[in-house]
Amino acid sequence: MKRKITLTVNGKEQELEIEPNRLLLHVLREEIGLTGTKEGCSIGVCGACSVIVDGRLVSSCLTLAAGCEGRDIETIEGLAKDGNLHPLQQAFIEYGGFQCGICTPGQIMAAKALLDENPKPTADEVKEWMSGNLCRCTGYYKILESVMAVVNNKISPDFQFRKREQQAKIQSLDVYKPVAKTD
Ligand code: FES
Ligand code: FES
Repeated sequence: MKRKITLTVNGKEQELEIEPNRLLLHVLREEIGLTGTKEGCSIGVCGACSVIVDGRLVSSCLTLAAGCEGRDIETIEGLAKDGNLHPLQQAFIEYGGFQCGICTPGQIMAAKALLDENPKPTADEVKEWMSGNLCRCTGYYKILESVMAVVNNKISPDFQFRKREQQAKIQSLDVYKPVAKTD
């Protein structure tokens, strides 16, 4: 039997009617439409589904949504504010902290949970903390470099994500010119 619950997700109250056995991961993705949180292993090993609940990093694939009644949930969608990326999001772009991107929301949420608690961790502390977040593209050094860029305040102050995106599109248009049909 379904039950009514209220979750606060990224500062916004969400009233939902769900089965008591629904996982937080699936409620975020399928009921609320926040598909930034990814499903990897589904058994609490890979960290792709990491979100922050009341300041604690959790695997949303192991967390019942009903158990989060009245709690504050942060997902990757809540990090950018007023059109500005969170420093960790910017650093992952600037320092190439991702390849396919599937593990990236979980990596960033894990790093955020750490930096919220300890803004100046050592590289070894970051490595240990992030050891629960796996990356099949194996870009671990770049992930570490991205997090340490935030720790050491080495992200660009005038970084413009949209501008870079536009430039990339323009460049790709140059590369992939349409081929004229000859017949
Ligand atoms: S999908 Fe949750 S830890 Fe892998
Ligand atoms: S960037 Fe592809 S799995 Fe991590």
